[in-house]
Amino acid sequence: MNIRCETLQDHSAITEVKVLAFGQENEARLVEEIRRSDRYIPELSLVAEVENIVVGYILFSYIDLVDTETLQVLGLAPVAVRPEFQRKGIGSALVEAGLKIADTKKEAIVIVLGHPQFYNRFGFQPSVNYQITSPFPVPEDVFMVKPLKSYQQKYRGKVVYPPAFETV
Ligand SMILES: CC(C)(COP(=O)(O)OP(=O)(O)OC[C@H]1O[C@@H](n2cnc3c(N)ncnc32)[C@H](O)[C@@H]1OP(=O)(O)O)[C@@H](O)C(=O)NCCC(=O)NCCS
Repeated sequence: MNIRCETLQDHSAITEVKVLAFGQENEARLVEEIRRSDRYIPELSLVAEVENIVVGYILFSYIDLVDTETLQVLGLAPVAVRPEFQRKGIGSALVEAGLKIADTKKEAIVIVLGHPQFYNRFGFQPSVNYQITSPFPVPEDVFMVKPLKSYQQKYRGKVVYPPAFETV
């Protein structure tokens, strides 16, 4: 398995992975909207390939954290692995690769809405532990943050998703 940044040629394979993994097209549309926006980060749009076939995809993009000032932080969404390649460690490898790149870029914190059983292993914790609140009424344990090496206490407040996320 090889992890690398996406290229233009990967777009249709990435769409297929997302539609197969989620069973709907919303997440594929989300990625297209983010790519078109100023929140897209090419280095953090990663594919996993096996024998030159794209089997997994992850995207981290900028979202807002609003308190007395508005800070840009990373939002992780979506991550998807082709159903027949799931539970083989590919999703975890994509998350770990992305977190490493984010650390290298001196990003401070990553925010995710997802399954705690999957994200806890990477050090994600409920966002309330860091005084960060979700814009959605969701259980506390599914809205999580992972502080990176550059994390400072000023990273707190309410998360605001940019317009691209209105598609999901
Ligand atoms: C979630 C997903 C990306 C994980 O990718 P993967 O390659 O299967 O993940 P890995 O093999 O690295 O890890 C699998 C672990 O995640 C857990 N996991 C996978 N999907 C899960 C789910 N829907 N709910 C809870 N845990 C899940 C498994 O229990 C497994 O844990 P284990 O190692 O203790 O058995 C993949 O299952 C997927 O594409 N799912 C559909 C899309 C989706 O729900 N994406 C958003 C996730 S918040």
